[in-house]
Amino acid sequence: MIGARPGVNADTVAMVDARTRSLESGLLAGVDEILARRLARSRRILEAGAGTGHHLARLLDAVPAATGLATDVSVAAVRRAARAHPRMAAVVADTWAGLPLRDGAVDAVLCVFAPRNRDEFARVLTPGGHLVVASPLPDHLAELREATGMIGIQADKHQEIVRAMSGAFSPVAHDVVREQRTLSPDLAADAVLMGPSAHHSTHPQLVEPIEVTVAVEVTTFALTARS
Ligand SMILES: C[S@@+](CC[C@H](N)C(=O)[O-])C[C@H]1O[C@@H](n2cnc3c(N)ncnc32)[C@H](O)[C@@H]1O
Repeated sequence: MIGARPGVNADTVAMVDARTRSLESGLLAGVDEILARRLARSRRILEAGAGTGHHLARLLDAVPAATGLATDVSVAAVRRAARAHPRMAAVVADTWAGLPLRDGAVDAVLCVFAPRNRDEFARVLTPGGHLVVASPLPDHLAELREATGMIGIQADKHQEIVRAMSGAFSPVAHDVVREQRTLSPDLAADAVLMGPSAHHSTHPQLVEPIEVTVAVEVTTFALTARS
């Protein structure tokens, strides 16, 4: 029963549809630009907890020599990711249960707003490989949180991620995306429904467009040791 495992919260079909619309609107295009810059030299890329595969697909567009594997515990998300890019494969896998890759199989691991298993990420990376983690800053979509009662974001996420990855990874770069975007009521609803708040309660539907802050940090780590 995978639902009992910590960190397993598979996206539903409705969440996957909302995420597809939201990401295709360009909501996190600034994050994709940073991922492309940080992983420009990578050739075999795993995205763990890849959802619809949107970020990996944009990365593969930017790095034509690379191939990618998307893993996610959600069958609905993996179905979508399997069609996201001609150089991408997709497999259902629980990041906590072990990734379906041999040791040293990839030279980059990408993890965007998804569970992070330090030892598994270290195991599947080749020596000299990189891990790139994107996570929301406390003011990410803050206006929408206030208007709809979405779940909040922990304040010191970056420090917590660096601590959790230490022992196998050292941070080598830290980028921040912070910009304002105007969301239509439909896109605002999608931004709520694609996230963890969708698992919990119903939310009021906005009737007017809303200006929101996109605030995401991207931490790049170098592999230093395997445990
Ligand atoms: C917030 S979404 C992010 C998806 C994608 N990285 C993106 O940014 O579009 C979190 C994803 O993690 C997946 N997930 C949750 N727990 C997981 C686990 N234990 N193993 C693999 N994927 C998991 C969910 O199904 C969901 O697709």
